[in-house]
Amino acid sequence: MAFKDPLLNAVSNLARRRGFIFPTSHHYGGVEGRYEYGPLGTLLKQNIAKEWWRATVTDKENGFAIDSSVVQHPQVWETSGHSKVFGDRWTRDLLTGEQFKLTKGEKVKHLQSDLVIKAPSKKEAQKWRNIIKQELAPNARTFTQGTDITMRVESVTDSHIILAGNDGPVHVVHHGYLAPGSRSPFLHEPRMQGGLSYCGDTSPEEMAEDFVKIVEDNSGASRATLKQLFTDKYKERNRPLRPELAQAAFQQLNFVCNSIDKRFPFSLAQIGKAFRNELSCGPFIYRLKEFEQMECYHFLETENSERHALDLSIDRLSWWRSLARKRSNFKSVELDKDDLAHYATNAVDIEYEFPWGSEEVESIANRTDYDIRAHGEAYDNTFHHHDGTRSFVPHCVESSAGLDRAVMAYLCDAYDQRNAASDTTRTVRPVLSLHKRIAPVKVAVFPIVHNKPELVQIARVLAKEFRAAGLYTMYSEVNSIGKRYVDHDEMGTPYCITIDSDTIEKGTVTVRSRNTMVQEPMLVTDVVGALVTFYSRDDLSAS
Ligand code: GAP
Repeated sequence: MAFKDPLLNAVSNLARRRGFIFPTSHHYGGVEGRYEYGPLGTLLKQNIAKEWWRATVTDKENGFAIDSSVVQHPQVWETSGHSKVFGDRWTRDLLTGEQFKLTKGEKVKHLQSDLVIKAPSKKEAQKWRNIIKQELAPNARTFTQGTDITMRVESVTDSHIILAGNDGPVHVVHHGYLAPGSRSPFLHEPRMQGGLSYCGDTSPEEMAEDFVKIVEDNSGASRATLKQLFTDKYKERNRPLRPELAQAAFQQLNFVCNSIDKRFPFSLAQIGKAFRNELSCGPFIYRLKEFEQMECYHFLETENSERHALDLSIDRLSWWRSLARKRSNFKSVELDKDDLAHYATNAVDIEYEFPWGSEEVESIANRTDYDIRAHGEAYDNTFHHHDGTRSFVPHCVESSAGLDRAVMAYLCDAYDQRNAASDTTRTVRPVLSLHKRIAPVKVAVFPIVHNKPELVQIARVLAKEFRAAGLYTMYSEVNSIGKRYVDHDEMGTPYCITIDSDTIEKGTVTVRSRNTMVQEPMLVTDVVGALVTFYSRDDLSAS
């Protein structure tokens, strides 16, 4: 794994070296869009999920949990609209060749009098100008100054940019956006990416048999007919894997209302795997084909669902920030109407400033009664609820966060470098300043040397006491004490405890802080209580 961006490269190298994240089946060359978590990554991910669960379910009077299947009935995705319209529109800049999600570009409707295309060098600007003149907009008037290519915009319609030309106006088709970076309007026809992924019990041989039989039974049929027959067979044998978790909640709603006798508003939450057939994955674990989501559905009576969505986005932003070191790197962005998913009337994204730019980590959407009504109409029309005096269709405001994206954002947030000791070959060394609540290892315990049985014995007993107190603890006796501290700085462990001769003589241990690197003595009888208090305090300090 090598990335252009040095921070992304450093984070992904550390993640691999320290057992956070590995590519799936890496001995065999990996599987596109899939990664696995090692011992520390699994704990980090679980700790983030625990924090989310606490904020969303256990700390809430009206928060409830559900856990649903990865495979739903195929009709669910027809009813929800995902079969037809789900995914993002991607395109390619015809000048740079770069692919991007269409909505990441600048909006064409904001174009003023000049369209200024930005090339990376003067040479490239000349090359692009020739391509524009010869292929993309012959006759359009273009001026090159340095690395800028300027064209005069006469007007913009829903489908065209009308440019000033040598022999009258030149119409250039647009797709609503300019390419990010170059500001080129010359884009390939956008295509949907991130549609449904499928799974089935059918072997490739059985699928091949189906295919041969369809061709034999329908000799003379057109290509389109054969394609449709084979598609139907494929769908019969393969089920869509859920691209989002939410649909199960809409179907469970009536059962939940009847079983726990809850009045609206209340919420259902779940964490689980989702699958999308992304054509373009990465960087690293940012966009995956198999990933985990943390979703919460707030069911309301119809009034105020828009207001609720805004309030929820404020809550969610402060949750992301509460576990971060550089809090301002998380921000919320209200989506324009034309960027909304098919089921939403308004939405706010939470974004993190990743090394390559600000990108979505969570989406808060007002789904109104869209899904409940759609499933009700498709099923038995039982989508009205009653509060004694009136009947209504509940509305849903959903928050949907990516757990893998959270891991990636918090790893980037925590990554730092310190001067390395002068006796090593490197000048700097990495430190993961993870928030205490999500740090995988809460405390590491060491005997100062491994060949003093009495120190080893005390260290092992102390480690056991930490574990019994509910703190994930690592015991280590390999390498020098300095190397062990450096290793645990890389793993993000907030405190290390060393047992030495003072423990026997004075009853004290050395407590070493990851953040300050200060080493302080503490009575061995006090240290478990002190760290339990530290971890249970609900303060916002990072360690
Ligand atoms: N139920 C609503 C929903 O799924 P979304 O905006 O498509 O909404 C929600 O996805 C979150 O899921 C995103 O903000 C992102 O964090 C995560 N996510 C979506 N696609 C992903 C992918 N291909 N890889 C990793 N995470 C993804």
